Amino acid sequence: MPRIFLSPPHMGPAERSLLLDAFDSNWVAPLGPHVDAFEREFAAKVGAPHAAALSSGTAALHLALLMLGVKPGDEVFTSTLTFAATANAITYVGARPVLIDCDRATWNMNPALLAEALDDAAKRGALPAAVVVVDLYGQCADFDPIVAACARHDVPLIEDAAEALGAFYKGRPAGNFGAIGIFSFNGNKIITTGGGGMLVSQRKEWTDRARFLATQARDPAPHYEHTNVGYNYRLSNLLAAVGRGQLQVLEERVALRRANNAFYRSALGSQPGIEFMPDAPYGGSTSWLTCITVDPGAFGATREQIRLHLESLDIEARPVWKPMHLQPVFSGCRTVGGAVAAELFERGLCLPSGSSLTDAQRDFIVKALLATPRSAAPA
Ligand SMILES: Cc1ncc(COP(=O)(O)O)c(C=O)c1O
Repeated sequence: MPRIFLSPPHMGPAERSLLLDAFDSNWVAPLGPHVDAFEREFAAKVGAPHAAALSSGTAALHLALLMLGVKPGDEVFTSTLTFAATANAITYVGARPVLIDCDRATWNMNPALLAEALDDAAKRGALPAAVVVVDLYGQCADFDPIVAACARHDVPLIEDAAEALGAFYKGRPAGNFGAIGIFSFNGNKIITTGGGGMLVSQRKEWTDRARFLATQARDPAPHYEHTNVGYNYRLSNLLAAVGRGQLQVLEERVALRRANNAFYRSALGSQPGIEFMPDAPYGGSTSWLTCITVDPGAFGATREQIRLHLESLDIEARPVWKPMHLQPVFSGCRTVGGAVAAELFERGLCLPSGSSLTDAQRDFIVKALLATPRSAAPA
């Protein structure tokens, strides 16, 4: 059986024909009709009034922070359990990430810890310049209390929905809970352009500004005139064409990821020592990646022993994100809590979750996982 990847791209005929259309039209540039159409169609899909197509989710985060006025020396509160891009972008504007632990019930930022940290910062007269909340592994954070806490202190919220396109929180689509929301179309995401991102907002000024900054901040003039520092962050027309095709099948892809999750739950849910990332009570997760935690005492093997056993059979599984407060590069950052994220990292494993997984592959993965050599005594 060929290698089973964690979350490979899943392309269809529409993507191919749109890509060829872009190629044949010679709009081979970071602008063109597919970029404009992708923005319109994406905005409609996620229920956001405005969207700007960018070269990556990281670029979208960088521009969001810049536009909200975050500057050198500021603090920005964010989730410690995330991919490094979230915290990296905060450092691009010279700000310091403050890393907040997650809630066991959702694996997302703990709203009570955030509220306490904001109250405490307000007392000290040292509120953060922004809060960046991540929607982890396809599941929205618990936004009602998060939005309320940010609003109470008038601190702008950015939603890092890079992993959560197609998800909902209490019936509202991911990406719409902050002043600005961002998405990623990296190769492993639920839909991909090979590389790309989107910035969405309720406010047209911000998507206009994002496009301006993303095209080297060129002022209106016949020559090249610049009064601001800009970036080369626009999405290519070729990639936007691929994105348009992928967007057409988003709901289908979500259903397939959910079906993977349901399959793993029914096959492994009663195994002692294996638990699943909880589906939050507010629902709407895409199950972008299906994640389990492994109690080595009860299962007889650690998550790393399982991962290595799967790897020996050419099955790619991946430890849950190593929290930012445990990363050498962010070790100097202030942390609020951290024990929950550390434990999820130690015990957590992301299983192959691609929307193109076959029944035979899923059976093979489950059998392989259960065949991991186990010790009777706690590992
Ligand atoms: C939570 C999170 N934020 C940001 C990013 C960055 O997106 P990109 O890879 O498109 O820059 C990713 C993934 O890649 C992510 O998982």
